[in-house]
Amino acid sequence: MSDDQRLTDASYARDTPALRPSTPVALSVKSHLVEPRRPVTTLMPTTGALIDSYGRIHDDLRISITDRCNLRCVYCMSEDMTFQPREQLLDFDEIERVARVARGLGVTAIRLTGGEPLVRRGVVDLVKRLGALGFTDIAMTTNATRLAALAAPLREAGLTRVNISCDSLRPERYASIRRRGDLATVLAAMDVAESVGLAPLKVNVVLLRGINDDEMLDFARFARSTGRVVRFIEFMPLDASGEWSRERLVAGRAVFDALNAVWPLEPVDEPGRVAPAERFRFRDGVGEIGLISTVTQPFCGTCNRLRLTPDGAIRNCLFSDEEHTLRDLLRSGCTDADVELVLRRAVWAKFPGHAINEPGFLRPHRSMSMIGG
Ligand code: 5AD
Ligand code: SF4
Repeated sequence: MSDDQRLTDASYARDTPALRPSTPVALSVKSHLVEPRRPVTTLMPTTGALIDSYGRIHDDLRISITDRCNLRCVYCMSEDMTFQPREQLLDFDEIERVARVARGLGVTAIRLTGGEPLVRRGVVDLVKRLGALGFTDIAMTTNATRLAALAAPLREAGLTRVNISCDSLRPERYASIRRRGDLATVLAAMDVAESVGLAPLKVNVVLLRGINDDEMLDFARFARSTGRVVRFIEFMPLDASGEWSRERLVAGRAVFDALNAVWPLEPVDEPGRVAPAERFRFRDGVGEIGLISTVTQPFCGTCNRLRLTPDGAIRNCLFSDEEHTLRDLLRSGCTDADVELVLRRAVWAKFPGHAINEPGFLRPHRSMSMIGG
């Protein structure tokens, strides 16, 4: 790769208007790739959906149920992570209550994350409780090290989908990126998940330049031969070790170009769909991939997500340190209306975009595993 193709400075990302492949594939500049322009109103509504001051409706709640994990992926955790004491985490009654209030405010989708959600005891029961609240989608992002035994009970409890993180298809490299665990267990868990109906599976791959970016085509081949949707995720400045750099990041556009040169791709258009992943199918009809280009192609313009951290704070953006704590309120005999107000305020306070590409950007204090991906 030549120097001018590398993502070595902020201007590259800033000046790249949209995913623009060098080969002639019809790609439009999508509206979600830009930030919302200006507030639609200056008064926070106290009824109706969860809306921010830029008019974005929030209907997707990501619940991180633990900051712990049995792996230590290099792009996420450091070896010497310290975790929050158990009593500081929301218990299942508290999580269920926040979810119920959110459901009443128009939230339709839940994603359970961590840390690693499957290391929290009783997770199947939690899924069952959330399932009874009427969400249309209850998904989970997991490293799959414990999924094989839990897939069937989770499915029965109402889990609709899983995303499995897997950053290499080479056993030794897998072990070195994740520092623990083994690839065979994760591949076996993918089979089990599919066999119980958690399909189509999505496989999350964080690409790191010089570490696993030579596996792009292998992952594309994997997507084509298994029908699993491989999603290439840009490395974000959310690692606990603070080692993120643009030099390590592999831009979604570079992934597109590499894959498209071998197996031509075309966009999968879904009118009205709001999602960070840009979906592409291979033109020969075999397989699909996704690009999550958070850094180089921000999708803040249509962001519909809010997050509940394991210790009970509402965060309106992965990259903003502003948190609206709920835990103490929940533990002081508050009403559902009090919870609603915190949710509304948290969403209302959301900034237009993540500003990673702005000169003054500061990394968030909490890393990914403490917030929930
Ligand atoms: N950058 C990009 N993705 C990350 N993940 C964890 N840390 C980072 C990071 N710094 C991914 C995990 C998982 C999802 C929750 O987020 O691999 O797939
Ligand atoms: Fe654990 Fe997921 Fe972070 Fe890896 S990325 S250390 S599996 S929480």
